[in-house]
Amino acid sequence: MSRKVAVVGAGQSEFGNRLDVDIKELSAESFVEALEDTENLEKKDIEFASIGSVGAGLMFEEGLVAPLLCEYLGLNPIGTQRTEAACASGMSAVYLIYNMIASGQIDIGLAMGTEKMTEITTPLMMEFIGRAGSYFWEFENFGPTFPGYYAIYATAHMAKYGTTEEDFARVAVKNHKYGALNEKSYLRKEIDIETAMNSDIIAWPLKLYYCCPINDGAASIIMASEEKAKELTDSPVWITGLGSGTSPVNLANRKSFTSIESARVAAEKAYDMAGVGPDDVDVASVHDCFESAEIMAYEDLGFCENGEGKELIREKQTYADGDIPVNLGGGLKSKGHPIGATGAAMIYELHKQLLEKAKPSDRQASIDNGVALAHNVGGTGHYTFVTILER
Ligand SMILES: CC(C)(COP(=O)(O)OP(=O)(O)OC[C@H]1O[C@@H](n2cnc3c(N)ncnc32)[C@H](O)[C@@H]1OP(=O)(O)O)[C@@H](O)C(=O)NCCC(=O)NCCS
Repeated sequence: MSRKVAVVGAGQSEFGNRLDVDIKELSAESFVEALEDTENLEKKDIEFASIGSVGAGLMFEEGLVAPLLCEYLGLNPIGTQRTEAACASGMSAVYLIYNMIASGQIDIGLAMGTEKMTEITTPLMMEFIGRAGSYFWEFENFGPTFPGYYAIYATAHMAKYGTTEEDFARVAVKNHKYGALNEKSYLRKEIDIETAMNSDIIAWPLKLYYCCPINDGAASIIMASEEKAKELTDSPVWITGLGSGTSPVNLANRKSFTSIESARVAAEKAYDMAGVGPDDVDVASVHDCFESAEIMAYEDLGFCENGEGKELIREKQTYADGDIPVNLGGGLKSKGHPIGATGAAMIYELHKQLLEKAKPSDRQASIDNGVALAHNVGGTGHYTFVTILER
């Protein structure tokens, strides 16, 4: 019999070009906030730490980041593991801790996502991320960059559904609007459509302002069983649905370039488990690694029919006062995308949203049903995790 699991506290470092801290200090920023946020928790009560990170030993110097953090954060000798699912590593850490608690193995656990991406050059980073496709079939022979992979999806969506470059710019304008309000966001500035459309081409049709930036950040989520959650906090946020899915590694074996199969599978599983549907969702954080991908996510998550994602952004339905507010923390575009941290940072943002603590209030969604959804994609859709939270 599976047990109920709650988020009882959450913390996030400031995202950005964080050359002022190393991976330990960056991670600790988020952990200290999460501890303070969990009203009655003592550090010694945490029984396991799952650390989502991609770049350990590649993008930053420390290879064994999980035990390193347990030592630095004073958690030894609890037990730990690094969880890796490319850009979905943060949510895979949440997934592991959920299952450890639900199964009765532990009562309280830490799911952290952490990444330092700015210690190496952009070309080297492009090479590492470019390998997050099929090395043999794609990277070795053709050398695509990550924006190049997602440009394939973007052009397919434009050709099939009439989505335009201006729609990608509209998504960027929305996400920069909310990112500018979020004190933990990296690129804190509002932009207009012209700024986005006049920016440099990275991989056509994707321009600079339709791409997420490279940056550093960490987020910590403390989770507990129902019994412990009630002792630890008066305001638990329950994880009521989780889903994960996979798609073929080699793009040539994908059925569609206007949709991500792993995302649809993960969403269906999460909705089924929670017993809710897209219409129940008050607020969502979706994986806008490129702004075209946010439009695809609207469709993959069932917020609209296939091909109608562009209408949602044209009508501003994904703004805070729209039908389905999306990425009110700034999204990957403006808040930033430290790849291993992002999934945990989505949970941090939605925990705040559900408790109506997002600041300033201009970026707080109206919480009517008490349901939030996080969608975290790894690779070019190789894997996706979807998590549903309820207060
Ligand atoms: C687009 C990209 C190539 C730009 O990298 P870059 O040229 O090295 O950029 P820099 O870090 O040197 O920054 C140059 C300037 O552009 C700005 N900038 C960088 N990325 C930006 C972005 N995505 N949007 C807007 N501005 C950006 C920086 O703030 C900086 O501004 P400043 O000169 O006023 O300080 C890089 O951000 C990128 O590869 N993004 C995609 C990352 C990715 O694929 N992640 C995985 C997805 S799942």
